[in-house]
Formats: sequence, C-alpha cells, structure tokens
Amino acid sequence: MTTPLFVGMPGNETMTVALARKLGGDIGQLELHAFPDGETYLRLLTDVADRALVIVCTLDRPNAKLLPLLFAAATARELGAAKVGLVAPYLAYMRQDRRFKPGEAVTSRQVAQLLSNAFDWLVTVDPHLHRYGSLGDIYRIPTGVVRAAPLISGWIRGNVGNAHIIGPDSESEQWVAAVAADIGASYAVLEKTRLGDRDVEISAHGLQNLGARTPVLVDDIISSGRTMLEAVRLIVALGAATPICIAVHGLFADHADALLAQAGARVITSNSIPHGSNAIDVSESIAASVLELVRSAGESGSSQPLE
Ligand code: R5P
Repeated sequence: MTTPLFVGMPGNETMTVALARKLGGDIGQLELHAFPDGETYLRLLTDVADRALVIVCTLDRPNAKLLPLLFAAATARELGAAKVGLVAPYLAYMRQDRRFKPGEAVTSRQVAQLLSNAFDWLVTVDPHLHRYGSLGDIYRIPTGVVRAAPLISGWIRGNVGNAHIIGPDSESEQWVAAVAADIGASYAVLEKTRLGDRDVEISAHGLQNLGARTPVLVDDIISSGRTMLEAVRLIVALGAATPICIAVHGLFADHADALLAQAGARVITSNSIPHGSNAIDVSESIAASVLELVRSAGESGSSQPLE
C-alpha cells in the first residue's frame, strides 16, 4: 500500500492536515487561480501518479467550489492517481430531494451524479437525509457517513448541566432523540412551517414547562438562521433561559451568526465548516469512517480506497 496523499481545496487546510496526520498520509499541494474572466486555472503541484488521493472539500457555498473540485478530481485521474476519494464534511444540495413543483430540478440527484462520476468514494458528516433512506439512494460510489450525535452528546455532557434538548422541527428529531438518549436528558420537538427561504413559523407544541433546565436546541444545519432564531424567540417568550443552539453544520447565510448573537444565543457547531463557533471536532470520526470504507472494500474483494 502506498502512502495516501491528502489535498485540501482552499479553506480546508486544517481538516486536511488533521486527516493526513490521523491516517498517516502525505499532504499534496495544488494551485488555483481565477482568471479575470472568472474561469479557473488549476494545477496539481504534487505528483499523484499511482497514489491514493483524498481530496478534502467541504461544500458550503457550493457553486463556486464544485467546478474547481471536479477539475481537481479529473486532473488527478488524467495524471494517473490510483484512487480519488472525496472527504466533504458538509455535503451540499441534499435538501432539494423531490420535485415539489412541476419542472423543478432535483439537484440532490444531479450533484450526486456529478460526484459519483468524479470520485471513487465519499465520506461526509450527517448529510441531510429526509426523504432518502441513505446516500446509496442517489450515490453510486461507496459512501461513509459520520454521525455527529455522539459528539454533540459529549459536548453537552461536558458543558451543560440539566439540559432539555429541543428540536426545532420534525426533521431534527433523529439528532435530538439520539442526543437525549445518550445523555439521559428529556427532549421535545417543535413544529415548524416553512413559508419561504427566510421565513419560518414555529409552534411550541410539545414543549413543557422547562423549570430550571437549560434549553439546548439541536439541528443539523443553520443556514439563514431563521429556524434557530424563531425557536430561540419562542423559548424565551415562554419564560425559559436563552437556549444554547447546536448545529452540525453552520452555514450562517445572511449573517445568521450575528443575528443569533444579538438574540443572546450561544452557538456551537462542528468543524465540518470552519467558523468561530466550532467546538465539536469531527476529524477523528471522519478518519475512522475513511478507514472503515477501506476495510469493507477490502472484505468485499474490491480494490481498497486508500491503495
Ligand atoms: C431543515 O430541514 C434543516 O434541518 C434545517 O432546519 C434548516 O436547513 C435550517 O435552515 P434555516 O437556518 O435557513 O432556517
């Protein structure tokens, strides 16, 4: 087995170094440059011939990232990389999982096709699986999924006494129920109606009197932040303490981080997307998931992702 080579797309340097250290890999370099007309120049500065290449690229704000990522993977193949895997701690375009109105693009499927064509395997953290049972419903390549719930539980255990875990909508119940069970806390799930991209209504259905418990909101994604903001306002209006807001992926569109800070909420996220709120490290679990893919590929007789 040759030593795997880890290459981070811009902005992914910290995660790339962490994974290379944990998995005993080398760090490779690439050069990216935007021409005045917006086209991309890309050059792999490290020889990838016969190497198992792992490209690390979290996919928040994905449109600007996807094309350079596809160029990097295609170039690596042209230059003889043995395998090209993708670690995308945040996997974009998972929420458009159905044609809600005639003519809509089901972009989750289309992005899955692009990435399945470009890469040999994929590891990500808590993809937004709502109407899909698993990534295998849309990805044709082996996938590894890191579950952040145990890490969120560990953070709450170490930092919050007497927590009451609250999910802002029914989709969050998978994380909320797992975290509450892990730490032996009570939980509730609120009811959310989405009226628009930046407009949600949340009702307190299911929220009992919190007493002295600390409300801890847990969701997979903070995007515009409206879900968390409305939930925070509702919980505070009911006379409880200002909740701690925990999300696996902090996208923070529209300065959502500043709006949540103004509302008095403490925000905690995983480092799937680099941000000042990162307090939950997913790198160890990502490394374990990559190794697990290696092992199961070996057991199934197919060639191993890191070879
Ligand atoms: C929705 O299904 C997700 O679980 C999140 O609740 C949602 O993406 C959050 O979006 P926003 O921050 O824009 O309200």
